[in-house]
Amino acid sequence: MDSRKPAQRPDRKQPASLSFDSQAVHAGNSPDATTGAILTPIVMSNSYQLPDDPSALDWSDSRTLFYTRNSGHNQMCLERKLAALERGEDAAVFSTGVAALHAIFFTFLKSGDHVVVSDVTYEAVARLFRELLPQRYGIEATFVDISDLAAVQAAMRPNTRLVHAETIANPTTKVADVRALAAIAHARGAMLSIDATFTPPPMFRGLEHGADFVAHALTKYINGHGDAMGGAVIGRAELVRQLKNDALVDVGGSISPFNAWLIMRGSVTLPLRLSKHLSTAQRVADFLDRDPRVAFVAFPGLTSHPQHDLASRQFEGYGAVMAFAVDGGPELQNRFVANLRLIVSAVSLGHDVSLIVHVGKNARRGSSAYPDAFQTYGHMRLSIGLEDPADLIADIKAALDDTLGPVVA
Ligand SMILES: Cc1ncc(COP(=O)(O)O)c(C=O)c1O
Repeated sequence: MDSRKPAQRPDRKQPASLSFDSQAVHAGNSPDATTGAILTPIVMSNSYQLPDDPSALDWSDSRTLFYTRNSGHNQMCLERKLAALERGEDAAVFSTGVAALHAIFFTFLKSGDHVVVSDVTYEAVARLFRELLPQRYGIEATFVDISDLAAVQAAMRPNTRLVHAETIANPTTKVADVRALAAIAHARGAMLSIDATFTPPPMFRGLEHGADFVAHALTKYINGHGDAMGGAVIGRAELVRQLKNDALVDVGGSISPFNAWLIMRGSVTLPLRLSKHLSTAQRVADFLDRDPRVAFVAFPGLTSHPQHDLASRQFEGYGAVMAFAVDGGPELQNRFVANLRLIVSAVSLGHDVSLIVHVGKNARRGSSAYPDAFQTYGHMRLSIGLEDPADLIADIKAALDDTLGPVVA
């Protein structure tokens, strides 16, 4: 077998007609003809054997296996799987979610370009557009409340090249209307990139809603076990090719084969895990929403969420991350977190373990769906894991009792 060309092997098990669950198991996996192993082995090699006449090689090529910064066997298998799950033409994988997002901005923006960015994004993206890209590279960004489509329209300029938003924003849970944003961007000759980390497939497939790029922090739900970092961009083959050439080959944010393999393994159970994450998150959010000691809960699955209807139309489910605060100041939020016994105080989300982080009032979040509540109380971000919902609710209830005293009937 020529193990250097896994992408060219016929793949009878992976017709597009397979259901999502079957693709989560089979897509991208190629049995190893050398050993007979039925799972793609980890190929920990920086280099692959060159052809007899290597002088004909394009050293920027990421389709021929010869150097792991450009591509590797495990990276290629994961890319095929992600392209199948998102129903995109191709995918590029990176060392982290931020490396994947940076790859889009680095590859498709240049000095003098303008970007319209959601006013609520992951902190590193906000900093890229507030500081690094404008100050060092002359790329200008306008931050808008993307739930106000007229404001998005008004922010567009002749040199706007990209609109960027998160499907459900970290941490305020603001929801982006992807189809509407795509229409606005395309009408003005711009592209739309969405960070779909909070809404992995099959919950949502952004390319089918008109996005040009769907980015994921694979670190989160797609890997799902909190033990590997990675990022991906899925989109049209020609755009992905440019991303790989510029951001992988020339900047080098490549994922390790081991992490690609771990994420490949984690993603097999994505549909099972996701359905449990979603149903448990709804139960926990409902519990928090009913408790008088909780000041507010931001979660798209609650009818009180300002974009509940949009979320219901657009996604299959509402995600598994929520922001909330107990009724009190920062010390009380900290005491509540310290009183939790099962839910772990740590950053990140989408893990098997439920995670909480007291973000406080300091983080720059722009306006949000709940501006007053976020300003008054600060907030905690809670990522619901795979524990039994009754245990999670009991943990939260006990911590509320210990922090604020029991509810008086
Ligand atoms: C929505 C979102 N995008 C991107 C990232 C960055 O991912 P990574 O930490 O893998 O760089 C995160 C991390 O929390 C995130 O929540």
